[in-house]
Amino acid sequence: MPASPEFVEKLFSQLAPVYEKVSVAISGGMILHWYDLLFKTLDRIYRIKSRDGKRIEHLDIATGTGLIPLWIWKHWRNKVSVTGIDLTEGMLKIARHRMPDWKFIVGDALNLPFDDNSFDVATVTFGLRNMEDPAKAISEAYRVLRSGGYFLVLEVVPYPNPLLQRLFEMHVGTVSAIAGGILSGNITPYVYFAGSVDSFFTREGFEKACRNAGFRKVGILPMAFGGSILAICQK
Ligand SMILES: C[S@@+](CC[C@H](N)C(=O)[O-])C[C@H]1O[C@@H](n2cnc3c(N)ncnc32)[C@H](O)[C@@H]1O
Repeated sequence: MPASPEFVEKLFSQLAPVYEKVSVAISGGMILHWYDLLFKTLDRIYRIKSRDGKRIEHLDIATGTGLIPLWIWKHWRNKVSVTGIDLTEGMLKIARHRMPDWKFIVGDALNLPFDDNSFDVATVTFGLRNMEDPAKAISEAYRVLRSGGYFLVLEVVPYPNPLLQRLFEMHVGTVSAIAGGILSGNITPYVYFAGSVDSFFTREGFEKACRNAGFRKVGILPMAFGGSILAICQK
């Protein structure tokens, strides 16, 4: 169920002040573990990429409140520069406040305002699922990466096991929609999120979309019994 950019922007503008707390609460804290895996992977990639002494250029797509840049700021700011892009100004305001030296710009992941071959690393965490054309966003990430550059994605995907998928739908459709609604004061986004997972790529479909975009190496790490993935792709 892809939503229009206007709908997504309105949704996240309303959620911005509580977004992080609510995500942790409705995932039962699991989201922190998934971010941690991404950070460990980024750490390894930065160690390799920083060997030539050049500053690493990182693009965080659908950066939101800047959670990924914030980790980079704390651990790698001497060697890495981050640009964050997102549709929603309300989310970016929080990111800019946290990291005033870095660029956080309003823009669309389906039409990135950057030249080809501009970045060494690109990430998108829990953003692709909300986009009208996720395959186009993957192609755009490929285009702006330099040869050898890495593209990392964290996302929720439909469970391969139909029973687990049904349980998950019941959880997000009821418990997490109600909890999200109470914590944020607005149930609409969480009803929308509940419907946005089963229309997204399966794990296999996601891998195919990355290969079709041109990535020569694609590794997918399933997490939470296959209900979420960490994808590591190389151009
Ligand atoms: C669930 S939040 C994730 C934010 C952040 N990546 C994180 O992990 O906390 C999804 C973000 O994707 C952004 N977004 C959705 N569609 C987008 C698009 N086409 N281009 C840029 N950003 C988009 C939304 O504005 C929102 O900030």
